[in-house]
Amino acid sequence: MTSDGKKGTIFSGMRPTGKLHLGNYMGALENWVTLQNDYNCIYCAVDIHALTTLDGATDVAEIKPNIHDMILDWLAAGIDPEESLVFVQSSVPEVMTLHTLLSMVTPLGWLLRVPTFKEKVRQMDETEESVNYGLVGYPVLQTADIILYKADTVPVGKDQVPHLELAREIVRRFNNHYGETFPEPQAKLTEDALIVGLDGQNKMSKSLDNHLELADSPEETAKRVATAFTDPQRLRRADPGRPEVCNVYSLHKTFSPAGDIATIHEECTTAARGCVDCKRHLAASINNYLESFRERRREFESRPSYVQDVLEDGAKKAQAIAQKTIQEVYEKMGLA
Ligand code: TRP
Ligand code: SF4
Repeated sequence: MTSDGKKGTIFSGMRPTGKLHLGNYMGALENWVTLQNDYNCIYCAVDIHALTTLDGATDVAEIKPNIHDMILDWLAAGIDPEESLVFVQSSVPEVMTLHTLLSMVTPLGWLLRVPTFKEKVRQMDETEESVNYGLVGYPVLQTADIILYKADTVPVGKDQVPHLELAREIVRRFNNHYGETFPEPQAKLTEDALIVGLDGQNKMSKSLDNHLELADSPEETAKRVATAFTDPQRLRRADPGRPEVCNVYSLHKTFSPAGDIATIHEECTTAARGCVDCKRHLAASINNYLESFRERRREFESRPSYVQDVLEDGAKKAQAIAQKTIQEVYEKMGLA
């Protein structure tokens, strides 16, 4: 417990990829909203991290609009800027100072072993030699993000666990060399909400284009749901379906009222309902689920400088904390 009755300090970040989808919402974002009740929360749009894998001016031109769209989604979901610190990574450049200083206590071998690094190198069709130096240091920057605010708890998906392990090793090393300075940050695993994509094969994901954007209009949602794959063996309307293998059914279980689920199952297996109607029903459930989110988003979007004001205020508050930490680190490292 901290002096203000909170359980501790949360830090988490998302790369600004633009509008978020239902999978992002049911996974990370909803969890971030809930954590505001129990923790001091700091939420950051990590634009410098985005630069590690961007290439050229066209890509970079998308960062700003992507930040704006993502922050609107955060706010509409219920991230409360009165309660939590919301800011953009690059607006507090102290994180880059800390990143450089932490790189002095981080063996290169630790970074080259990180599984996400190896995977990125493969995905990008690069080699460990050709890849940019910033990408190798990605987890060091992430550590700097977290400990600049002395956060102790980091809500992330399981893919990020190795980064948090590394963060703790860096912290231990720093504290060993220069004296107790930072808490060892713990990952708080976000349960995988398992929101299946419209392809029925994969998790919902923007890069696979099998997703439903939160900010879409109800019509757009219905149109996209209509393209969803269903039971591949149900070729004719008169064929009974198999809800267990149908991703539309799986989405119904998440978004339709609990009382409808047994009926959907029954009507599908007896061919009393067709897939076209079943998808319309699903779209209606999802649109209903997102109605208040969308209304809030439109409201925030219509206030001319709202997002900018939130981010400026967040940056100011974050920077005040950051400057204190950098001062302390300078003293410990003999730089003050
Ligand atoms: N690496 C995280 C991701 O790809 C994003 C991130 C950057 C982050 N800095 C962070 C997450 C600090 C938690 C804490 O999802
Ligand atoms: Fe899937 Fe619904 Fe078609 Fe059954 S009726 S196969 S649950 S879309």
